[in-house]
Amino acid sequence: MDKYQKIIAITGGAGFIGSHVLRLFVNKYPEYFIVNVDALTYAGNLENLRDIESKPNYAFEHADICDENKIEELFAKYNFDAFIHLAAESHVDRSITDPLAFVRTNVLGTGILLNACRKHWKDKASDKNLFYHVSTDEVYGSLGETGFFTEETPYDPRSPYSASKASSDHLVMAYHHTYDLPVVLSNCSNNYGSHHFPEKLIPLMINNIKHNKPLPVYGKGENVRDWLWVEDHARAIDLIFHKGRRGEKYNIGGFNEWKNIDLVHLLCNIMDEKLGREKGTSAKLITHVKDRMGHDLRYAIDASKLNNELGWKPSLQFEEGLGKTVDWYLQNEAWVNHVTSGQYQQYYSEQYNKR
Ligand code: NAD
Ligand code: DAU
Repeated sequence: MDKYQKIIAITGGAGFIGSHVLRLFVNKYPEYFIVNVDALTYAGNLENLRDIESKPNYAFEHADICDENKIEELFAKYNFDAFIHLAAESHVDRSITDPLAFVRTNVLGTGILLNACRKHWKDKASDKNLFYHVSTDEVYGSLGETGFFTEETPYDPRSPYSASKASSDHLVMAYHHTYDLPVVLSNCSNNYGSHHFPEKLIPLMINNIKHNKPLPVYGKGENVRDWLWVEDHARAIDLIFHKGRRGEKYNIGGFNEWKNIDLVHLLCNIMDEKLGREKGTSAKLITHVKDRMGHDLRYAIDASKLNNELGWKPSLQFEEGLGKTVDWYLQNEAWVNHVTSGQYQQYYSEQYNKR
């Protein structure tokens, strides 16, 4: 381990965004040793990381961030210099049916990691130490027709998911102010791209269009989300990890607002073309269903701080990104089948428990 410049734990590395961040770090920084700390819930899938799993600077640890003893054991094994913390329960609809699972992982789990870092970094304070907390724009609540979330927008979370993420953000900042823990935090808008679990809007619609199933649009579909290519999020995390100011928060967003109904129509058109269907065929599958409880109307991020301070901006136009995303799902039907069946989890747990 001594030959590595930094030992970084990436939590939730088997999930959607985590796997993109992990891939970027493992490939770009052979001088860092990266440990993927993931409980492999329904949303975690080690197949997402096949292309990097044999790299010498990568290790996987099957661990629940709420298990204090396990986190302690991992600290003893790796002596982590930094954390990039993505592990979370991430789906708003699930938080409405099972809020306490979100309190557990998102609040308690984050608290356990912060406490471990406080304990281990107290005496050997180093420039290398950093707790990077990956959070969401949903902590700011819901916008009306106009305006943007800035870093100064007061928190106003409205779903159990966003309330649990807001709590974790507050804990992170509290550990900075109280214990001087080196932290940085980012709040990002809706991501899209490959390896996105097909319970979320875009991959769910792609899958349903492909199989000629109804496309469930909540309410009238007037709600607005600001979509960002997941690899642009990963690039932003890389920049903030290396150059972000300690104790600061940064908004990350795509400057790319879409009403759900317009987005679903766009996807239908792209899919009709790619599947060789007559234009308008897939749109007939659109079905308006009961609205999500407490459904936030609009999210829109002002990412100018990140742009002005660190020079980040999104790299990909939405239609190009959606086209690439659709291609990935069409070419990776086995992945969709595995993640929705749950078989892969048992398989991988057995594989890793044998080691
Ligand atoms: P995801 O649901 O795809 O992945 C979550 C990962 O965390 C999975 O690998 C899962 O196994 C792991 N995990 C869950 N509970 C755990 C626990 N108790 N211990 C260890 N690992 C656990 O989530 P995602 O969409 O990739 O989101 C990652 C992070 O980014 C989350 O913190 C989320 O709040 C945040 N975020 C997501 C978006 C988005 O659009 N998806 C936008 C902004 C911020
Ligand atoms: O804004 C960032 C957040 O984006 C992240 O913090 C969350 O982890 C992530 O899940 C996402 O939350 P949303 O609730 O915005 O994403 P979701 O894909 O669930 O829904 C997007 C929009 O589409 C939302 O307005 C609800 C609507 N929707 C969703 C589903 C799954 C539908 O109309 N039909 C659906 O079937």
